[in-house]
Amino acid sequence: MAEFNLPPNSRMKEGKTWPTPPGAKRVKRFRIYRYNPDSGENPRIDTFHIDLDACGPMVLDALIKIKNEIDSTLTFRRSCREGVCGSCAFNIDGTNTLACIKAIEDIKGDVRIFPLPHMPVIKDLVPDLSVPYAQYQLIQPWLQADTPPPAGERRQSPEERAKLDGLWECILCFCCQTSCPSYWWNGDRYLGPAVLLQAYRWIADSRDEHTGDRLDQLNDPFRVYRCHTIMNCSNTCPKHLNPGKAIAEIKTALAQRIL
Ligand code: SF4
Ligand code: SF4
Ligand code: FES
Repeated sequence: MAEFNLPPNSRMKEGKTWPTPPGAKRVKRFRIYRYNPDSGENPRIDTFHIDLDACGPMVLDALIKIKNEIDSTLTFRRSCREGVCGSCAFNIDGTNTLACIKAIEDIKGDVRIFPLPHMPVIKDLVPDLSVPYAQYQLIQPWLQADTPPPAGERRQSPEERAKLDGLWECILCFCCQTSCPSYWWNGDRYLGPAVLLQAYRWIADSRDEHTGDRLDQLNDPFRVYRCHTIMNCSNTCPKHLNPGKAIAEIKTALAQRIL
């Protein structure tokens, strides 16, 4: 089985290696980031051996099996187990994705699981998402209209509704946000691809009457324009959305307003 060696300058150390289950014929090795800030110790990598014949098919199944049967202190977020809540986002096999829809058999060699990159870690695989959630709050992600609502509902034509496709499906997993180099370096001021896709979701909504205010709020050297169209965000989105395109649409809307 391939060895996964830590880089020589890594401050992480090898942690505990749990034994191979007796009688297991199809064993997969899981290398998992562990960190407990209360311990005062540096992060470490623990190794778990999982019998694939006694485990569900997805990476999240293995994490739940480890927590239930091997090490109950392993800490991670998860909820729906079907790719709709956005909780189980980790860096798996070098890519940000959702553990509940990532098949173990698609990963060659060891399964390496780290928290989403470049975020403070609360414990093990749980990143502190306070900053991106505060940024999400900043864009006021709800319908804003001053016109009193009609008796039934605020209606849209099929064409107007179609403009929201590719936007409403975002589950705020922040896989894109934490894969963006611009967000790594300027995450305090650049809003990042997940938040900007959500901002565009309301700019594109024909029922919203505060488009001008929304664009005013984004028209800032850092909030939008730190995007350099590197497109890591669109390449990593587990829902196959295109935040890079949404950001380009915002830039176009801002430019058209200025011209
Ligand atoms: S396209 Fe923009 S938001 Fe997406 S990864 Fe690149 S810099 Fe970040
Ligand atoms: S755009 Fe995709 S990767 Fe980004 S938060 Fe939404 S679902 Fe997650
Ligand atoms: S557990 Fe909800 S998206 Fe994975």
